[in-house]
Amino acid sequence: MIKTIEPVRALKGIISDIPADKSIAHRAALFAAIAKGDSTITNFSNAADPRSTLECLKGLGVDITIKGSTVVIHGRGRKGLRPVKPELDCGNSGTTMRLLSGIVSGSGLEVTLTGDASLSSRPMGRVLNPLRDMGAICDSTGDEKAPLRFKSNAGLDAITYKLPMASAQVKSCVLLAGLFASGETRVIESLPSRDHTERMLGLEIDFNADGTRVIKSSKGVELRPLNMRIPGDISGAAFWMVAGSLVPDSRIELIQVGINPTRNAVMGILKRMGADIRIANTIDDGSQQAGEPTADIIIKTSGLKATELLPAEVPNAIDEIPVLAVAMCFASGISKVRNAAELRAKETDRISAVVEMLTKAGANVTEFEDGFEVKGDPGFVPKSAAYESHHDHRIAMASAVMAMMAKEASTINGAECTEISYPDFFSHLKTLAEV
Ligand code: S3P
Repeated sequence: MIKTIEPVRALKGIISDIPADKSIAHRAALFAAIAKGDSTITNFSNAADPRSTLECLKGLGVDITIKGSTVVIHGRGRKGLRPVKPELDCGNSGTTMRLLSGIVSGSGLEVTLTGDASLSSRPMGRVLNPLRDMGAICDSTGDEKAPLRFKSNAGLDAITYKLPMASAQVKSCVLLAGLFASGETRVIESLPSRDHTERMLGLEIDFNADGTRVIKSSKGVELRPLNMRIPGDISGAAFWMVAGSLVPDSRIELIQVGINPTRNAVMGILKRMGADIRIANTIDDGSQQAGEPTADIIIKTSGLKATELLPAEVPNAIDEIPVLAVAMCFASGISKVRNAAELRAKETDRISAVVEMLTKAGANVTEFEDGFEVKGDPGFVPKSAAYESHHDHRIAMASAVMAMMAKEASTINGAECTEISYPDFFSHLKTLAEV
């Protein structure tokens, strides 16, 4: 689908249905499936990625009742998953494939995990290596890509695993396998990545002398059914944080968005750039939300200045970097994103896709192996351009934000991929936009 984006004069209004957090939704569904008893999850997203997780769980014999955005998962307990289909399609979702790999190998199931073309080109050795160290048996393509063919195994043994990269998916995969393994599995982080798995499962955490975190899991961890509301996705909200900062005369209010500190660097980075972003009505009592804090986020237009992302901010803001790159084009001075080579292993190579998008808009950008640098200008007017999504939802939405600031219409080819995380993105744009 080719989507035309018209220039926008102002963005005004309230969005009370920011899509439900995808990372939390995947986890809620997976953890509920291996708990015993019924879990009720409200505000579950209708985006394609979390739906892929539900479909895979159905393929493992889990009964799931869906009524609107409420999902009831009839958990089968740690030993209860049974493949009713030989192949499970994870669609475009790396989180589904990587987290499920931990559960499937922990359960010793014979099952194949497949994905779409994008997912089948992403690195899976990062989860297969630690899982094999634990005793999992899995064939993949020669270069460790999907399909992943898991075989039954003789049971897993715990490992101590120092993460070679800051990845919540790899961390979660190993910790989930650890729930089934004999002994105590310990995952050591170098830089913190999103901590939804630890929070939602209530895992024990130690700190090394240098401040790095050691997260533990074992058969002893109690898996309780969940009764939770999924917060709005800060990664979806980020598009409005940037658009509301850039488009003149804007005021946007986003209701009850997740503000987990391992996910909210985007707010800090934008505020450091001079953005007028504040939060209100914070809920951080752990109840109904499995320990996940939420708040309303209010954004008003403001001038921006350049910034450099700190190494520790990169994993925290990893999904928001494409839209932060758009903000950097309008900020006075040189902005830098380095230590971000992980962006090349996302739904598409996001360094090259961001550089292509900014170049098409006429911005001054330089590509590096591990990031990019943008020479911003507060008076920057993007050219009207024909953007490519590269089937990457975040590139499509970041391009839309860029296009809002142009003087004439732009197009986005492959814009349907917004379905992956934010099916209502274009209708929310229509609601907010004064043209
Ligand atoms: C996710 C973790 C991140 C992120 C992805 C979702 C998760 O990936 O990019 O969109 O839910 O754990 P990595 O952990 O591989 O960096």
